[in-house]
Amino acid sequence: MATHIPFYLWLTIITIPHLIVSTLAQSDNYIIHMDLSAMPKAFSGHQSWYLAILSSAMDSSEFSSKHIYTYSNVMNGFSASLSPAELEALKESPGYISSIWDSPVRADTTHSSHFIGLNPNSGAWPASNYGKDVIVGLVDTGIWPESESFKDDGMSEIPSRWKGECESGTKFNSSLCNKKLIGARFFNKGLIAKNPNITITVNSTRDTEGHGTHTSTTAAGNYVEGASYFGYATGKARGMAPQAHVAMYKALWDQGSYTSDVIAAIDQAITDGVDVISLSFGLDGVPLYKDPVAIATFAALERGIFVSTSAGNEGPFIETLHNGIPWVITVAAGTVDRQFNGILSLGDVVSVAGLSLYPGNFSSSQIPIVFMGLCDNLKELIKVGNKIVVCEDKNDTLGEQVNNVDIAKVAAGVFLTNNSDLEFFIQSSFPVIFINTKDGEVVKDYIKNYSSPGASLVFKKTVLGTKPAPSVTSYSSRGPSQSCPFVLKPDITAPGSLVLAAWPKNIPAVQGYSPSLFSNFNLLSGTSMSCPHIAGVAALLKGAHPDWSPAAIRSAMMTTSDTLDNSLSPITDIGTDNQPATPLALGAGHINPNKALDPGLIYDADSEDYVNLLCALNYTEKNIKTITKSSNNCSNPSLDLNYPSFIAFFNSNDSDSDHELKTVKEFRRTVTNIGEGQSTYVASVTSIEGFQISVIPNKLVFKQTNEKLSYMLRIGGPRLMKEKVAFGYLTWEDGKHVVRIPIVATRLSSEPLSSQS
Ligand SMILES: *[C@@H]1O[C@H](CO)[C@@H](O)[C@H](O)[C@H]1NC(C)=O
Ligand SMILES: *[C@@H]1O[C@H](CO)[C@@H](O)[C@H](O)[C@H]1NC(C)=O
Ligand SMILES: *[C@@H]1O[C@H](CO)[C@@H](O)[C@H](O)[C@H]1NC(C)=O
Ligand SMILES: *[C@@H]1O[C@H](CO)[C@@H](O)[C@H](O)[C@H]1NC(C)=O
Ligand SMILES: *[C@@H]1O[C@H](CO)[C@@H](O)[C@H](O)[C@H]1NC(C)=O
Ligand SMILES: *[C@@H]1O[C@H](CO)[C@@H](O)[C@H](O)[C@H]1NC(C)=O
Ligand SMILES: *[C@@H]1O[C@H](CO)[C@@H](O)[C@H](O)[C@H]1NC(C)=O
Ligand SMILES: *[C@@H]1O[C@H](CO)[C@@H](O)[C@H](O)[C@H]1NC(C)=O
Ligand SMILES: *[C@@H]1O[C@H](CO)[C@@H](O)[C@H](O)[C@H]1NC(C)=O
Ligand SMILES: *[C@@H]1O[C@H](CO)[C@@H](O)[C@H](O)[C@H]1NC(C)=O
Repeated sequence: MATHIPFYLWLTIITIPHLIVSTLAQSDNYIIHMDLSAMPKAFSGHQSWYLAILSSAMDSSEFSSKHIYTYSNVMNGFSASLSPAELEALKESPGYISSIWDSPVRADTTHSSHFIGLNPNSGAWPASNYGKDVIVGLVDTGIWPESESFKDDGMSEIPSRWKGECESGTKFNSSLCNKKLIGARFFNKGLIAKNPNITITVNSTRDTEGHGTHTSTTAAGNYVEGASYFGYATGKARGMAPQAHVAMYKALWDQGSYTSDVIAAIDQAITDGVDVISLSFGLDGVPLYKDPVAIATFAALERGIFVSTSAGNEGPFIETLHNGIPWVITVAAGTVDRQFNGILSLGDVVSVAGLSLYPGNFSSSQIPIVFMGLCDNLKELIKVGNKIVVCEDKNDTLGEQVNNVDIAKVAAGVFLTNNSDLEFFIQSSFPVIFINTKDGEVVKDYIKNYSSPGASLVFKKTVLGTKPAPSVTSYSSRGPSQSCPFVLKPDITAPGSLVLAAWPKNIPAVQGYSPSLFSNFNLLSGTSMSCPHIAGVAALLKGAHPDWSPAAIRSAMMTTSDTLDNSLSPITDIGTDNQPATPLALGAGHINPNKALDPGLIYDADSEDYVNLLCALNYTEKNIKTITKSSNNCSNPSLDLNYPSFIAFFNSNDSDSDHELKTVKEFRRTVTNIGEGQSTYVASVTSIEGFQISVIPNKLVFKQTNEKLSYMLRIGGPRLMKEKVAFGYLTWEDGKHVVRIPIVATRLSSEPLSSQS
């Protein structure tokens, strides 16, 4: 087992389908954006026009085999497999706007519903009928339809507006769909065009990886009694929106995942009529007009479809976030108040608890226990034999220690460490337990005190209510968004650590355990897991408030989210040694679905507002048209989107820049009163040292529901900040609602990603 690999890479390996890079790149896939207004009237439709353009751009008569997909909703255009010369010829065609290379895509209980406050007696579950009649679509690795989480007991009828299908394919009969799983489609033409000789062993929506089964049941799985991971996390499993319908669009394959397939999947989901889309993957380092997620989700936004995306697993480093797209919600990952333990009994003298997720059975009899210090001498460790080995993590070499103990094949490993980042070590294939250094002194004393010390181990203890929780995980990717730094990202945090959800019963549930262990449920970690939590909560809010726009749903979640943990201290960040989490890690806060039902005020935005933002990013007309499909004259460019957060850059890079020189940044926001008719909101701002912040006016008097009022936030500070990030909050309160949004001041770069080609 690859425990020596840094845990965040390891995570990538378990949660991301392997990618294949095509080597013989004579022809390659391209996604071609076309201007439909340039289509001659003679053509009956866009499909025949695209084929005609394709045929005139190449000599071969096989042009139709070069065509991969025609897209209808997300963009005007198609994808095709083209040689460099054919691509150049195509660029001369009338109506050609732009093309992007078909790049690979990375994917990145249950108790978590209880932890975020969902309960049958009050709040978002009863108010939304548990998401009844809402359709959640996921683009992922497919689905294991036999999972109990997809039973349709208690489900309402399939909504009549549903236009989707359940496609048959390898090991997938369309009769496997039901009132819970209402759609199953698969997209691999792009993958096959890239790799013509590839073998698709399971050519259907069936999940051969596990990721999609897990994410879809996290969002909207039905109730399953007695779920567990080998005796850990035992209980009744259910998704966030147990009454919502699920539609799976498989575009991430074991053999690789490509943009052309992802766009086709989102395009189809829009046609089929999903209400919410969950995307637990993203592309790093691309400007918005080259990002298939950004392009495809703009069309979703225009149809009122809410889109949840994962921030990525590249933390704790700043500016690593993907899906920093202004019209979606970008979700960070947090811990929950649950620990998985083993207990080390030292003779009959004393017992010590520690973290463990060892899935196997372990003898309850006494075994000799030895202290091996740094456990850096593999030869010595191998000589130990059938004993419990105690290692002390003094030099920050825990990964090496765990690896050595694994190779040495001793009876069990006990690691004395205060490392707070143990999530990926504890999911081990051999018996291990991680004990903090204070309790570790007891273990060391015991071994010293006795001439032939013995100990026993018991595993599979689950402890609920641990504090503090949540914390932001260290792997969760941090903002600011590289593609659009002017909109603070991530937006929100949701449970992402060791989330229990359904798992295909024929895919091993433990990496490296021999013989393979199988389970109908698995514990996975990542922003891939936090993203479907938000998709499920969005389904609840959509069920309770069918008229809310995607921006309104996002605003409601953000402004009501929690900034304190369960010990009533500011939520901390494991990635910065448990310092208070900044909004660049946490977003506005941790999701609180019950409060989001009744936010009081919302920060709304529509497609025109996003276009104004794109204009202010100085994108070319073609860049903008690639995203929006329509021509825009950019008469009102503005970086100041009506968003429920603020990020202000104090990063002046002039030669005469001086920490003492002052500058002022101004933001304008409009809030809509969706609470009671008459209400008066008063502003308060937490102070940020070194900055003067004012809100004008600082009182908003609403006379009626749906009334909109505006205010200005003014932040005075140095032209160039000394520290990287400072933050505070602006809160509007009417005595009933608390509408809080984060304010970040930073000297990080505000240069958006761009690309010449
Ligand atoms: C699909 O399921 C139906 C109903 O169970 C059955 O009649 C049909 O033969 C199955 N088709 C295939 C290809 O297995
Ligand atoms: C695919 O298979 C054909 C025929 O076997 C072979 O000529 C070609 O080189 C292969 N292509 C790749 C990319 O491996
Ligand atoms: C996969 O199934 C689709 C639809 O049934 C079919 O068109 C396609 O040719 C199949 N692809 C492979 C590689 O078998
Ligand atoms: C552990 O023991 C239980 C009960 O005997 C058995 O069902 C289970 O398969 C065992 N687990 C493993 C991993 O061997
Ligand atoms: C661990 O650290 C100590 C003191 O800091 C040092 O003397 C020792 O050589 C280190 N051991 C290893 C294996 O790096
Ligand atoms: C390690 O953690 C324990 C328990 O949380 C604490 O009491 C102890 O002071 C910590 N030790 C160090 C060196 O941080
Ligand atoms: C070990 O011995 C010391 C000194 O007699 C005693 O204080 C301590 O409690 C003992 N610890 C254990 C775990 O036996
Ligand atoms: C866009 O261009 C204008 C004029 O050159 C410039 O002032 C502004 O800073 C640019 N905006 C961005 C986001 O680069
Ligand atoms: C830009 O477009 C808007 C909306 O379509 C229109 O009202 C305005 O007159 C246009 N401005 C220019 C300069 O063309
Ligand atoms: C400031 O400008 C210098 C020189 O152009 C550059 O190397 C540096 O990265 C810039 N710093 C910031 C914070 O943008």
